[in-house]
Amino acid sequence: MSNLDLEAINKTIDSEIEQINSPEKLEEFRLKYLARKGILAQLTSSIPGLPVEQRATFGQQVNILKTRITALITEKQKTFIAQPARKITSQVDISMPGIAQDLGHLHPITQVMDEICSIFTRMGFCIVEGPEIETEYNNFTGLNIPLEHPSRDVFDTFYLKDKNRLLLRSHTSPVQIRAMKARKPPLAVVVPGRVYRPDAVDASHSFMFHQIEGFMVDTNIRFSDLKGVLEVFAKAVFGRDIRMRFRPHFFPFTEPSAEVDISCIICKGKGCSVCGRKGWLEILGSGMIHPNVFKHVGYDPKKYTGFAFGLGVERIAMLKYGIDDIRLFFEDDLRFLKQF
Ligand code: PHE
Repeated sequence: MSNLDLEAINKTIDSEIEQINSPEKLEEFRLKYLARKGILAQLTSSIPGLPVEQRATFGQQVNILKTRITALITEKQKTFIAQPARKITSQVDISMPGIAQDLGHLHPITQVMDEICSIFTRMGFCIVEGPEIETEYNNFTGLNIPLEHPSRDVFDTFYLKDKNRLLLRSHTSPVQIRAMKARKPPLAVVVPGRVYRPDAVDASHSFMFHQIEGFMVDTNIRFSDLKGVLEVFAKAVFGRDIRMRFRPHFFPFTEPSAEVDISCIICKGKGCSVCGRKGWLEILGSGMIHPNVFKHVGYDPKKYTGFAFGLGVERIAMLKYGIDDIRLFFEDDLRFLKQF
């Protein structure tokens, strides 16, 4: 072996290692150069036969070559170690059924509220919301509800422990006051939201429920406009063959006032247990906005007229789906909620 051999080896190992494509071939390569009787051992054993002045340099060069070959082998080994890792990922069984994710959906009350609001927005109404904590003025006084009215009693309204007599609104009507003060006629507004009353909870009462208020104000709004709008609403929710009737009633903030009934959706008006043998189901309160309400918001009652109505969302939902207990809406029982 000589210097020439060393140079030749240095040149060939790169292309040799390049062509190796298996751990077995790499082992062959390692043995060829590094085995006890391999090429490097042969080079080393040739040193004593060299002229004295060449021995040290040659020895160094053999050592450098050995380091280089060892490094090349380690590098190459890494490319083979990476392969089992790839095999593990390919062992994922893509034919196995996945873990199904439960999809949530809107609460039935939210669904009914959205449906009702969209019936009115299609007729040109806009949606306005108001706070659940209200002033006594907006909830009562502005709506022409006199001081001695029973609804102001602590048994009918939740008052906050606050010297300003703040309260949890007992209906959505205070948003009439807020919206009319903030805007000028003509206006057509629906107000969805929560209301609170200190009622004992039973199958038809809850201390919290949802209402949708609606009102329209302009220079020539008539009772027939109220009838037309509510008829579109009732038919959209309960079907085209539903009949409606307006029953005289009293609300301090409307004059005249009426409660609105629809023909019973169960017995079609013949009389059954759902409608209490009457053939009719009450669905909302309504009327023409009282002139005193217009005065409170700074509208001229000689110039403007308007109608207002308020409905209970839970009641509509219960009638629509045949639900007999209001508490089901608030118990978060998935066996109930999943049906919607
Ligand atoms: N605010 C009334 C209630 O809660 C409903 C209503 C609204 C009646 C608007 C007439 C006009 O009972």
